[in-house]
Amino acid sequence: MKILLSEKALNEGVEKLASQINETYQGKPLTIVGVLTGSVILMADLIRKLEMPLRVGVVQTSSYEGTQRGALTINSEMMLDIAGRDVLLIDDIFDTGHTLEEVTQLMKELGPTSLKSLVLLLKTGRQEVDWKPEFIAFDIPDEFVVGYGLDYNDEYRNLPYLAILEPADIQGVSS
Ligand code: IMP
Ligand code: MG
Repeated sequence: MKILLSEKALNEGVEKLASQINETYQGKPLTIVGVLTGSVILMADLIRKLEMPLRVGVVQTSSYEGTQRGALTINSEMMLDIAGRDVLLIDDIFDTGHTLEEVTQLMKELGPTSLKSLVLLLKTGRQEVDWKPEFIAFDIPDEFVVGYGLDYNDEYRNLPYLAILEPADIQGVSS
């Protein structure tokens, strides 16, 4: 595996995101909704740097089998009540954009006062939707990456750095 973003670089990226969020909301109460499971590390690191009164909820989506996208499922049973709240949706990576597009549509129907989104990573040249998250820490090349919350078949989320998964690391997948 090749390291793309070191622990130090990731920490600086999260610091930058936190400053932008603190600046944007100016101490107003905020409801964070993290997309499980990929956003857990980012969420844990980010929310401890936020200065406003905070509520934290989660929504679960899954779309990948190995490195291939499959059908998207959304489980919103554990999401907080977001009606009349300023809401920030957090995910690990914006790839095609379909995951955040669908979660955003679902959340808009619940009547938040405002809804913005934040991702650690944006994969360059892959987007299939006509918008981007308001807050993005890093643009990365079109490679399959793992670590800092991102997985390959549910593994590698615990790596403290972000690494490119190379063909030799992929077992049982042809291509
Ligand atoms: P999208 O719907 O194509 O934007 O994909 C977003 C979701 O796919 C993210 O929440 C990730 O869980 C997953 N994903 C996309 N690219 C990668 C990757 O390179 N490594 C691990 N997970 C990824
Ligand atoms: Mg995900």
